[in-house]
Amino acid sequence: MTFNTETKVNEIALSNRGARHILEDAGIDYCCGGGKSLQDACLHANVPAEEILRRLRQNSERVMPGETRWISAPLADLTKHIRERHHQYVRDAIPRLRALLAKIREKHGSNHTELGAIEKLFGDVAREMLMHMQKEEQILFPFIDALERAAEGDEAVEPPFFQTVRNPICSMMKEHDSAGELMHQIRAVSGGYKAPADACTSYQAACQGLEEFEKDLNLHVHLENNILFPRAVDMEAAMV
Ligand SMILES: [Fe+2]
Ligand SMILES: [Fe+2]
Repeated sequence: MTFNTETKVNEIALSNRGARHILEDAGIDYCCGGGKSLQDACLHANVPAEEILRRLRQNSERVMPGETRWISAPLADLTKHIRERHHQYVRDAIPRLRALLAKIREKHGSNHTELGAIEKLFGDVAREMLMHMQKEEQILFPFIDALERAAEGDEAVEPPFFQTVRNPICSMMKEHDSAGELMHQIRAVSGGYKAPADACTSYQAACQGLEEFEKDLNLHVHLENNILFPRAVDMEAAMV
């Protein structure tokens, strides 16, 4: 794929993992702000578009094949991948990070008052994400899988109580925005996940863990907002 400054950031993010890392490192939001052109997104993130474009072009020369498979793979494979790879990651990371944040707040909270705010914000993300993933797994994903089976002619799809797939998708996208906003706040309060000079190893581990959590969330939301949801909407539209 060739890029220019008018290319949309979600198209760039879809192209391969290296491109996503370049966008993430530059602080460019490709999940919720994915419809912006590279030029606008760079302006918003206050980074030089030409420099980002140069890095993206350099990276495209060493793109790994197979990265774009989710654009055409069966939707049932994609919902399974999201559940097994990303939902499981979130479920594993939450108790670990909450315990770590509680421990360092108890020990260092008096010297580092930001720790209380980070713990509270992460508690909010954790609560929201656990409920969010449950809704996807119990309502939206099974419906998308059923839509795909119906499109293949295997079975008829029952009319859902939410009328059209666009309704739960709209709610899920709002919840993605909310989780993304909470992670932005954690990033801001923690100074970009930088442990202070006097931080203990646990504090450093918490910063690393939070940054990794945000990166995984970006990819997870990208797969849903930019691939799974638009494909499900198109599939439903083609059936009526
Ligand atoms: Fe999800
Ligand atoms: Fe989601």
